[in-house]
Amino acid sequence: MLLGVNIDHIAVLREARRVNSPNLIDAVSLVERAGGDQITIHLREDRRHIQDSDVENIINNSVLPINLEMSVADEIVEIALKLKPHRVTLVPEKREEVTTEGGLDLEGNYEKLKSVIEKLQKADIEVSLFIDPSIETIKTSKELKTDWIELHTGKFANVFAMLNSNLPKSHHSIDEFANLSRKELKTELSKSIDELRESAKFAKSLSLRVAGGHGLNYQNIKLFREIEDIEEVNIGQSIVARSVFTGLESAILEMIELL
Ligand code: PXP
Repeated sequence: MLLGVNIDHIAVLREARRVNSPNLIDAVSLVERAGGDQITIHLREDRRHIQDSDVENIINNSVLPINLEMSVADEIVEIALKLKPHRVTLVPEKREEVTTEGGLDLEGNYEKLKSVIEKLQKADIEVSLFIDPSIETIKTSKELKTDWIELHTGKFANVFAMLNSNLPKSHHSIDEFANLSRKELKTELSKSIDELRESAKFAKSLSLRVAGGHGLNYQNIKLFREIEDIEEVNIGQSIVARSVFTGLESAILEMIELL
């Protein structure tokens, strides 16, 4: 499995004081040195971490391909068309969310997505759609002529954490599982793995390239990596969190070893 390292959380730390450190270009070099395959960044509409100048600097200075996560907002699409990252991953975006909490609503945004995908591909940018794992979402993604899909692994990661760690039950995105017994959680975990496995297999059979991401970490990756047909993972928070204690290079090396 290839590893895209999402460096948004390094920018979170920088934005906490609005200074120049930690420097994202240093991070890009360290990802490359550690053997990461791709740099992933999310230019959010509210600019809470990555700034426009970061996107430009990173695209111009990185020796690794850049995967730019973004919404379909016109203003952001214009930036992507101008700066031409290697890939754009289209994600849903809500201002009040802590992080991207679900996959795209493909049916609800069909025409908008279609026109954005066409524009990006015309500019020689690969497109990926961040979707919840299901046969329906994959069929629609194929109709939309995307190059990649990225399967949202949030449900898998949350249920895994509820079973294996002391994640507080008040965690914002697990309300629907909060009252389940351990037995029921185990059933949910295997259901989520089956959904990911079947979706990846079906997507591959349609010649879509398959990535996965959201909430993957040093514990759950051991189970996740057994799912066939997933070519790449994009991991951010857990790697940056570990890097506080071990350094970024070592945190990435550890993850690559697990993959
Ligand atoms: N992939 C996508 C599409 C995302 O939106 C995110 C979160 O920004 C990630 C991967 C990385 O998630 P995490 O930081 O939980 O590893």
